[in-house]
Amino acid sequence: MKGIFISFEGIEGTGKTVQSKLLYQYLIKKGYGVILTEEPGGTRIGLKIRELLLSIENKDMTSITELLLYNASRAQHIKEVILPAMKKGAIVITDRFTDSTVAYQGYGRGIDLNLIDSIEKTVTNGLKPDITIMLDLDAETGLKRNKGINKIDRLELEDIKFHKLVRNGYLEIAAKEPQRIKLTDASEDIEEIHRKIVNIVIDYIN
Ligand code: TMP
Repeated sequence: MKGIFISFEGIEGTGKTVQSKLLYQYLIKKGYGVILTEEPGGTRIGLKIRELLLSIENKDMTSITELLLYNASRAQHIKEVILPAMKKGAIVITDRFTDSTVAYQGYGRGIDLNLIDSIEKTVTNGLKPDITIMLDLDAETGLKRNKGINKIDRLELEDIKFHKLVRNGYLEIAAKEPQRIKLTDASEDIEEIHRKIVNIVIDYIN
């Protein structure tokens, strides 16, 4: 049996991490085999790469280095975690995947989308999420929410202009693939968003 691959996407402060956990707990309770993972990270090597990427000490990192490191983490993640779990028929939930790279390094940093696409093809070998829950929120609100929980990493240090570019990028990505990407308003309350996400996923499973 082939598993199901679900990704969560969105700018900072949209509640991806909370919502991916709630979905995970819901599906486990219903008796499904589920794993919850994240990018960058998800593997031993991926976690080391995550540290390099997010450390505020690495302000001098070039955009291309950044692009390649996110993809390096992804290559390990797919081989070690995602594909083995899917082969066993599990539901794999990941907090971020390839749409993050298109949004942040493509629309945010301005790296050529064709270059990003060709690296993506090599790294993923065509693997795409079956469903992507894209949590949408305006950049100001998202950043304010994150400040509230005292979370600060290298990308969050970027100015509001960068985060607006990323958000607009996400909206363009969502418009291109409405079948896969479920755009979800992240300004509603946690329970309401969770209910909507459960409906989307259960619809897909049935
Ligand atoms: P987070 O998972 O805690 O949100 O942190 C990951 C950060 O890395 C976040 O700022 C988004 C960024 N990111 C990219 O820029 N490109 C990517 O491909 C991924 C997976 C994350």
